[in-house]
Amino acid sequence: MPNIVLVGFMGVGKSTIAARLAKMLKMKVVEMDKLIEKRQEMSISDIFERNGEDYFRDLETELLRELAGETGIIVSTGGGVVLRRENRDLMRQTGIVVLLHANVHTIYRRVTMNDRRPLASRQSKAQIGALMKKRELFYELSADLKVSINRKTVPMICQEIIRKIEEMEEKNV
Ligand code: S3P
Repeated sequence: MPNIVLVGFMGVGKSTIAARLAKMLKMKVVEMDKLIEKRQEMSISDIFERNGEDYFRDLETELLRELAGETGIIVSTGGGVVLRRENRDLMRQTGIVVLLHANVHTIYRRVTMNDRRPLASRQSKAQIGALMKKRELFYELSADLKVSINRKTVPMICQEIIRKIEEMEEKNV
């Protein structure tokens, strides 16, 4: 199985799906946000607050450069990773880029439940919807394939991802 890179808006379930896929496929998970927090010894919210968003985006790009050389990994990205062209290219070099998407109601319910996300906390549903819309093109530009998560269980989503990757691979040989 090639590397799999999961992209999608905040709250779409990238971490949960990555963990389950890794178990099913016996691959290793790389949680970009968690790894950045560990290396910086700071939470994402603190990095944003102290060093600003651009600094955080540079850390994401650096990490993606590292990951492009690895094998056997499922990468769970942060929701804003698709914004930079260089990141999109690096993700493509790393593996199959899978876009998880959900409707604004699901996303809103999930991202406002806690305070961990500096770009989503204290936002209205309309503001979340506007940010989703603004990013839509970048998600589309990044993805090799797309999976909707609405009304599906975690195993259903994982099976769908695996099936679609296998179909893609068959077509390419
Ligand atoms: C961000 C998403 C977050 C995290 C940071 C910025 C974004 O990751 O990287 O708060 O710009 O969408 P999740 O998608 O895991 O919430």
